[in-house]
Amino acid sequence: KASQEATKRGWHLYVVGGAVRDLLLAQNIQQEPLLLKDIDLVVDGFHESADAGAGVELATALQKLYPNARLDVHGAFQTAALLWHKDPELDSLWVDIATARTEFYPYPAANPEVEASSIRQDLYRRDFTINAMALRLTTPRAGELLDYFNGLIDLEARQMRVLHPNSFIEDPTRIYRGVRFAVRLGFTIESQTESYIRYAINSGVYDRTARENNKTPALSTRLKAELKLILEAPYWKRALELLDNLSALQCIHPTLKLNVELLRQLRLLERCLQRFDNSQAITHWLLRLEAIIAHLAPEFRSKVATNLQLPDDSIKRLSHFSKAMDNIAGLTECRLKSQVVGLLKKYDLETLILAALQSQRSIRRSIWQYISVWRFVQAPLNGNDLQKLGYKPGRAFKEMLDDLLAATLDGVVNDRVSAEAFLSQ
Ligand code: CTP
Repeated sequence: KASQEATKRGWHLYVVGGAVRDLLLAQNIQQEPLLLKDIDLVVDGFHESADAGAGVELATALQKLYPNARLDVHGAFQTAALLWHKDPELDSLWVDIATARTEFYPYPAANPEVEASSIRQDLYRRDFTINAMALRLTTPRAGELLDYFNGLIDLEARQMRVLHPNSFIEDPTRIYRGVRFAVRLGFTIESQTESYIRYAINSGVYDRTARENNKTPALSTRLKAELKLILEAPYWKRALELLDNLSALQCIHPTLKLNVELLRQLRLLERCLQRFDNSQAITHWLLRLEAIIAHLAPEFRSKVATNLQLPDDSIKRLSHFSKAMDNIAGLTECRLKSQVVGLLKKYDLETLILAALQSQRSIRRSIWQYISVWRFVQAPLNGNDLQKLGYKPGRAFKEMLDDLLAATLDGVVNDRVSAEAFLSQ
């Protein structure tokens, strides 16, 4: 339908980017039928009179044919997306429709060569050769693969090759994308590409990320989005290792290294998330990132969290983390469970987990005990029971409840009878 609509208007329509890569990969490997969830289309070949709104026009026309799709238009005349949300047959499907970008060479009226060059330009501004192929949907030559940069050869050689030397300088998040694809697909990073990555890192990517944060949030926002994709994927550890090998963790902070200690902490974190977070109350990727940032020297944590525009809670946690660590170190002085609970109850679960990762074993054990058991302990009598026993609400009442809980934790009180006896002392 999309290609019919494009043809009607005298345009060409292409599938580009990740969908082409994944289609070709699926063709090579005999695997489950490919379910594309995100398809990028590019419209091209319109006449001078038509404007950059061709993508939006096509999406609007398609939405009329598929009324159950939601239409989102980004920017005045830039791109549009159609979303089939949880369609029983399609599951959820995003189709982004953009107009071929020709910012480098504005081109005049329709002429086959110029048309071809505009899709070529669109593909040329992309990141890796395997992501820079297009499949023509419109006739003539529907089904033809446009592969100007030898993406197919790289796909077969299973390697990530960047399109141009400045790519990583222009957009450092591509370093993270490259690593993510390499690890996800089991590809290598081609050696020239690797040297461009190293060059971009040495040219001070971190300073740029930090600096451009003041001007425009774009770079840090995209870096955070990439970190999220990496840290929520099952292959996050291998991706971090590859980023570290490329010195690319420096984009987060120049002093960040994936050393043995940080790896140990991340392993502990996984065990802890498996044990304590059955209800998925914690955002796992974010806590992994916080553990990485908490591994930095205290003076850098807050700045890095702010640069990456983490949620306020995360920034606060990381800003106050060294103070929390100092307080929590006081656990070595606690002899009673009630003292442990008294000390830890002012911290949220995430802070406690982060602190446990960096603490010595005895403290870590107390934190685990608190998280898994002690924080749920309740006294045999609650406020209502106390009122029924004739006690009046107020400050002393609150203290009684606290004392009762402490006594319960410490084993002095274990049922209603012993609780009443405790209160009457
Ligand atoms: N792209 C790029 N540089 C970026 C981000 C994206 O050149 N920093 C281009 C790539 O050609 C990519 C396309 O935009 O294929 C679409 O980007 P996106 O949807 O983020 O990634 P996909 O390649 O589709 O991969 P995924 O499977 O992760 O969706």
